[in-house]
Amino acid sequence: MSSFFSWFVIIGTLASLLYFFLLLQMNRTGNKPGETTGHNYDGIEEYDNPLPAWWYWGFIFSIVFGIGYLLYYPGLGNFPGLSGWTQVGQLEAEQALAEARYGPIFAQYRDIPVAELANNPAAMKMGHRLFINNCAVCHGAAATGSFGFPNLTDSEWLWGGENIETTLTHGRTAAMPAWQSVLGDAGVQEVTEYVLQLAGREVDADLSARGEVHFTTYCTACHGPEAKGQAMFGAPDLTNEIWLYGNSRMRIEHVIKNGRNGVMPAFEPRLGADKVHILAAYVKSLSAG
Ligand code: HEC
Ligand code: HEC
Repeated sequence: MSSFFSWFVIIGTLASLLYFFLLLQMNRTGNKPGETTGHNYDGIEEYDNPLPAWWYWGFIFSIVFGIGYLLYYPGLGNFPGLSGWTQVGQLEAEQALAEARYGPIFAQYRDIPVAELANNPAAMKMGHRLFINNCAVCHGAAATGSFGFPNLTDSEWLWGGENIETTLTHGRTAAMPAWQSVLGDAGVQEVTEYVLQLAGREVDADLSARGEVHFTTYCTACHGPEAKGQAMFGAPDLTNEIWLYGNSRMRIEHVIKNGRNGVMPAFEPRLGADKVHILAAYVKSLSAG
């Protein structure tokens, strides 16, 4: 990276300090104490006195303090400062402190299996707070999800109810392919009709029958022979009225046509294994109740 802006800031900052100092000195010389400057506003006259000493030295102190501060902390362009202080360093130090203090609180549940931990009120209170801080932005405060973000309180799992901890640890990326180029408009319409029939809707029997052929050819590999979904691929059960991307014919057709790649982020790198373990139990407790 060019050092232009570094020098721009350094020179600009030091030149301003010098300018303030010179301005201050100019105000101290050539005064005529006791006389007026000749300025007169509505009978109020301005005396030509120098700055009071406390004020002058206040300014000098500020300038000296400013220079000292800029030498000690990073502030002058790319100059790192003599103290070695950095934002990242301070953050890391505080995180290490917090980890040392609070880590053991989370670690105490490390060896309790998820299913058992889900019945531990103290741990679930922690799980709730962790969920609000880390998960509610996407899944909602009540974990009921929204468009594109699965409901975690129902009994349907994309990636398997027994795999929750793995889901949280490594994250998940769903791969629902786009079928427009394979099936064309008519094919997409037909298979949509069949998917709607699977979910128990009233459909056009002819269209749906043609759709079933496409479905058996292209869709069962992931959604399973009975369209009940397969956790290995994160492919949802299509035989009920639980929809991740909307329940209308138009929405469902849109997914089939264009595909979808829902992404659940990995949390182990962010929160560590102990908190993930508590969260997995918390998610488990939501659907158990
Ligand atoms: C490679 C695996 C794979 C194949 C093949 C596949 N799907 Fe999917 N499908 C998925 C995954 C994974 C999702 C979930 C997408 C997400 O979570 O973002 C999905 C989602 C869907 C949804 C949305 C469900 C909802 O709840 O909103 C529909 C509808 C669907 N697929 C229909 C089909 C049809 C019809 C076919 C065949 C033409 C098909 N899929 C083929 C993997 C697949
Ligand atoms: C940036 C948004 C986002 C955040 C934050 C997020 N999730 Fe997710 N999560 C998703 C999406 C999107 C999916 C669905 C992925 C897919 O389409 O397969 C998902 C899927 C899941 C699943 C799998 C659901 C199933 O049916 O198998 C679980 C469990 C889960 N999230 C729990 C959590 C927890 C616990 C947290 C907090 C630690 C969290 N999520 C934070 C977006 C998010």
